[in-house]
Order: sequence, then C-alpha cells, then structure tokens
Amino acid sequence: MKGIILAGGTGSRLFPLTKVTNKHLLPIYNKPMIYYPIETLVNAGIKDIMIVSGKGHAGHFLELLKSGGDFGARFSYGVQEEAGGIAQALGICEDFSDHEEVMVMLGDNLIEDPVKDAVEDFKKQKTGAKVFLKEVQDPRSFGVAEIQGDKIKSIEEKPANPKTDQAVIGLYIYDSQVWDVIKNLKPSGRGELEITDVNNYYADKGELTYKKLAGWWGDGGESFDSYLKACNLAADRHNNK
Ligand code: DAU
Repeated sequence: MKGIILAGGTGSRLFPLTKVTNKHLLPIYNKPMIYYPIETLVNAGIKDIMIVSGKGHAGHFLELLKSGGDFGARFSYGVQEEAGGIAQALGICEDFSDHEEVMVMLGDNLIEDPVKDAVEDFKKQKTGAKVFLKEVQDPRSFGVAEIQGDKIKSIEEKPANPKTDQAVIGLYIYDSQVWDVIKNLKPSGRGELEITDVNNYYADKGELTYKKLAGWWGDGGESFDSYLKACNLAADRHNNK
C-alpha cells in the first residue's frame, strides 16, 4: 500500500498565521504539523509516500523533508496549482499509486491511535474503501457519517443539522477505483472536488467500511482553537510517553 499526504489548500481559516507560510509547516508543539501524518503512515508500515502541496510552498517541503530518509521512508512530491479541493489534490497522485491501494491522510490531521491493524483489515476487504470515525460534540465542521452495520450508509459534508455525532476524519484508504471516481466528480457548491463525494460513491455501492478511533484526534487547521487544541494534545502525548 502506498501513502499520500495532502498539504495544499490556502489555510485561510488560520490567517494571518498562514499568509506567508503553509499551514502544514506551522509548529504543533515541538514539530511541524506535517510530521504527525507522516509518522502515522510510517508507523502503519507505509514507506512510499507522496506529498502534495500548493505552488509557492513546494520548495519548503522539499527542503524540510528531503528524500524521506530521516523518517525511514521514500518521499515523492506533487504540486496542486490551485486549491480545487481535497479530491482534486488526490487526483494528482494517480501515476504515483501505480494502481496499488492508497492510504490518504490530510496534512492537518493528528491522531493518537496506530492504524496498522486497519491497513491489514483493508487488505482482507480486497475492494472498496475505508474511512475512520471519531465521535465529536459538534460535528457541523466535518463530514458526518451514518452507519449501517459494518458499512457506512452515507456521509454529509458539514451539515447544519448532523444526523449523528460521527465525524469522518482526514484519513482514508482507497482501492484503485478511486482514480475513475475522481475523474467523474463535479465541483460542489464551494467550487471544490469533495472527498465526501468520493466516499459516497463507495457508500452507495456498499463498499465503504469504517474504523472508530479510540484515542484523540486533532484537526489542526479548522480554527485557532482547534490548532491550539492540537498543540496541547501533542504536548501531552510527548510529555507522558
Ligand atoms: O479534518 C477532517 C475533515 O477534512 C473532514 O471531516 C471533511 O469531510 C473534509 O472535507 C475535510 O474538511 P476541511 O474543511 O477541514 O478541509 P480543508 O479544506 O481544511 O482541507 C483539509 C486538508 O486537505 C488541508 O490541510 C490540505 C488538504 N487540501 C485541501 C484543499 C481544499 C489540499 O491539499 N488541497 C485543497 O485544495
């Protein structure tokens, strides 16, 4: 399985922190934000990782992360020229994937749980996709999942009236159908190719499984408060391990 980390976008919710630097290079306690998703993938046994960033900052990522050797990994780099959505950024990685399964992580997501077992489970699943869920108090800022047995029935992106408290976090596993799904997507109301539309394609086919996270999850890019919370969670983990 190959890995992909998406670190494009404008980071506008954190302006002015992100006026001249990329959100994923901001510090989360003692490390740049992007170190956390890299460590999640590497700890899951995924060593071949493509990092997608936006134009203007791609050189900074290369300078910081280099070939990946410091992480025991191999990095490839891609540039998303405009912030056209998470699914658009993912579409850049088709050639890199070599049509293997991919684990995709958003560069501003931090999770405590190891996900190696989920990777192994997915290999048994053979076809389809898997998302990761976390129960949250206010799910309105996230994709929100409706579950039916061991599958996801559907996901609503940032609903005003969420049907459940299950947020879909920024970590996904896809089989190679994903590339054709992305090619057939239409931009959403906010003009982006939405990852939730990709996930709903799989949900409609009955091929979207899930794993609930037990440990904490931080979305470092959602607001100043979520950024601060992510810093505090990372500090706690660092100081209590
Ligand atoms: O954090 C989890 C949430 O992430 C999910 O619950 C939502 O379903 C999903 O849509 C996403 O929502 P956000 O509104 O938080 O996504 P955001 O626009 O902040 O983008 C998240 C990451 O994706 C960002 O850190 C970098 C990457 N990205 C985003 C865009 C829009 C790109 O690489 N390119 C892009 O064009």
